[in-house]
Amino acid sequence: MDSSPLLLFSIMFLSFPLISFCQKPHALVSPVTKDPSTLQYITKVYQRTPLVSLNLVMDLGGRYLWVDCEKGYVSSTYRHVRCGSAECSLANSYGCDNSCFSKPGPGCNNNTCGVFPENSFDHNSYGRELATDVFSLPSTDGYKPGPAATDPHFTFSCGPTALLQGLAHGTVGIIGLGRIKISPLEQLAATFSFQRTFAICLSNSIGFMFFGGGPYVFLPGIDVSKSLVYTPLLVNPVSPATVSLKGEKSTEYFISVRTIKINEKPVKLNPSLLTINKKGFGGTKISTVNPYTLLESSIYKAVLSAFATALSKVKRVAPVAPFGLCFDTKSIGSTRVGPGVPAIDLVLQSESVYWRIFGANSMVAVSDKVLCLGFVNAGTFTNPMIPIAGSDQMASIIIGGHQLEDNFLVFDQAKSRLGFSSSLLFRQTTCSNFNYTT
Ligand SMILES: *[C@@H]1O[C@H](CO)[C@@H](O)[C@H](O)[C@H]1NC(C)=O
Repeated sequence: MDSSPLLLFSIMFLSFPLISFCQKPHALVSPVTKDPSTLQYITKVYQRTPLVSLNLVMDLGGRYLWVDCEKGYVSSTYRHVRCGSAECSLANSYGCDNSCFSKPGPGCNNNTCGVFPENSFDHNSYGRELATDVFSLPSTDGYKPGPAATDPHFTFSCGPTALLQGLAHGTVGIIGLGRIKISPLEQLAATFSFQRTFAICLSNSIGFMFFGGGPYVFLPGIDVSKSLVYTPLLVNPVSPATVSLKGEKSTEYFISVRTIKINEKPVKLNPSLLTINKKGFGGTKISTVNPYTLLESSIYKAVLSAFATALSKVKRVAPVAPFGLCFDTKSIGSTRVGPGVPAIDLVLQSESVYWRIFGANSMVAVSDKVLCLGFVNAGTFTNPMIPIAGSDQMASIIIGGHQLEDNFLVFDQAKSRLGFSSSLLFRQTTCSNFNYTT
């Protein structure tokens, strides 16, 4: 069939104003602060009608976003998700919930899609409903924040107020960024048709989180999405959630660490601990829930001993819990990338691909006088393997918050890979340097 040039012309002509009117954001941005008492990372999002700003604790590997719907949830656009709907099947629902016997309202409806929001710290979990409401974040061109971008039907889960226990003061839920079809990223990328990529840049003061692709430009004009190193993201076949469906996979982000080197010398480790076994134990994950990197006991001991040997000429002081190796600050020099200590390399898929940890990320100043190696002993897996007592640890290496700060990390879902920058201090910028002025 011939298409008439006139028709074509009028379609083109008519679509111009529409395109500019409906211009979709290319990425979204949210500031991330660190709570000084809990060391949790907190993001700010906007939800409901009328819009309110909410502080949520970030859980990189968490299942989805949940907020307290019991206390103070007021919104004219709240809708519960019905049983058997498409959204419900994407959320790993356990089924239909008809069991709320108080007044109908946010968090309490019949014929509602049931899910299990979980507190990522104490692992409490309650069966509650899935819901949608208006959700909004500032858009960004990668240089600065722009107009708000609003998703009218953002899916999240309702939690009871009791689920907030242990979360930083002033927060009302958790933003889980893990791999699930109803993750904030998957929803926002579908709504705004942008790249299925999110990025975090954590800081001791203010850092940032981005949904969507780069550039991501930090002052003084450094695009941190350039020259990243990439490593495949691995899936752990076993969900660590307190309540999960049979066969449900973990939503957490695992990478393959094959060796650890200190001062470029390999540390002797039990290789079987470095891979994920059929029951979901072992391997290396990245977590924003743990403030410091946790190492399985034998790995911890080997790393500590190699680090102590490499720094044998430096004055040691009594260790300060939870750390096991501490030094007199005066006897360690300082560099652009923090205290002058041996580099710790996490060697990834090949010898030439490694995540180098410099002093700013390896060392923790516990006082003006004492610097400690910022790794924590997680204990040993028992036989048969159960999570290490007192923690939920199933991974052998959990790369925690202090080791992630001032490192730019991109989680590219489409390619199932992690891009990382190593320390931005080397590039004369930090995670605080995004031009975010409101
Ligand atoms: C749900 O259904 C039950 C049984 O019919 C009823 O007692 C309850 O009040 C209903 N709950 C809501 C929130 O409508």
